[in-house]
Amino acid sequence: MLEKWLKESSYTVVFTGAGMSTESGLPDFRSAKSGLWRTKNLQQLASTYALQHNREEFIAFYQYRIRALLECQPHIGHTILANWQTRGIIHQIVTQNVDGFHQQAGSTNVIELHGTLRTVRCLRCKQTYDAKRYVEEQFECTCGGFLRPSVVLFGESLPYDAIEQAWKAAERADLWIVLGSSLQVSPANELPVIAKRNGAKLVIVNMEPTPFDDWADLIVHGRKIGEVLQEIDEFL
Ligand code: NAD
Ligand code: APR
Repeated sequence: MLEKWLKESSYTVVFTGAGMSTESGLPDFRSAKSGLWRTKNLQQLASTYALQHNREEFIAFYQYRIRALLECQPHIGHTILANWQTRGIIHQIVTQNVDGFHQQAGSTNVIELHGTLRTVRCLRCKQTYDAKRYVEEQFECTCGGFLRPSVVLFGESLPYDAIEQAWKAAERADLWIVLGSSLQVSPANELPVIAKRNGAKLVIVNMEPTPFDDWADLIVHGRKIGEVLQEIDEFL
């Protein structure tokens, strides 16, 4: 059924979460067994509080995440999505992920709602650098300011232009496909509802149930995204 909708739709948006990257080797946040927030305190590590008052643990947490990122690659699912965009089958990717794997696989104009872990930026002068600096133990800008990852921390608002573009995509979409998100974090989780309210078909492909399953026209639980995308790709 999904392959039929993909062929018929005029503006398909693919909305991805951390579950899109677990098959690349990056843990997600809320999976029952392996989610990062199951064992780590997100407010102590990935928040504006941590940046100001818990800097040592903050640095160690993001060194761990950046190191993991640099050791992993996009998987076949990212490549299929990039190919579908080139062929005009999908039209926009909106991601909560900060790993840059969609772009590495060839997707373009990716909307990154939560920023990116590929760069770090100076708290003082806003100069950005490759995130490799964290792994090389370099935390200071040439101006002397502290370098923080270019991700949205808990307690921060999302980048206005990203939210604005994503909202517009949700108003325009006639097919909205969620891949690998628990849909538990706002305002990102409002987007599938906006799309649905604007007449889009909503598809949720997620290993576990989400709070928005009742809104979906099609739900795929218990299946790996990479396998699902490969199966659909054979019919396109
Ligand atoms: P939250 O649920 O409190 O709300 C997200 C943030 O977006 C809030 O700070 C709020 O000011 C802003 N916001 C809410 N509705 C908005 C709207 N309609 N338009 C524009 N901005 C709006 O989330 P949080 O717990 O404060 O976390 C903030 C964000 O940081 C979350 O999206 C979370 O996913 C993200 N985050 C990223 C990482 C990472 O490593 N990438 C880690 C932790 C959190
Ligand atoms: N195939 C299908 N689903 C998967 C796979 C997979 N291979 N791997 C994991 N999942 C599912 C999990 O069952 C889980 O429900 O993906 C979902 C990932 O949900 P979260 O870990 O909550 O990640 P996400 O929804 O992206 O979190 C939103 O919260 O901490 C912040 O900034 C962080 O962007 C993140 C935001």
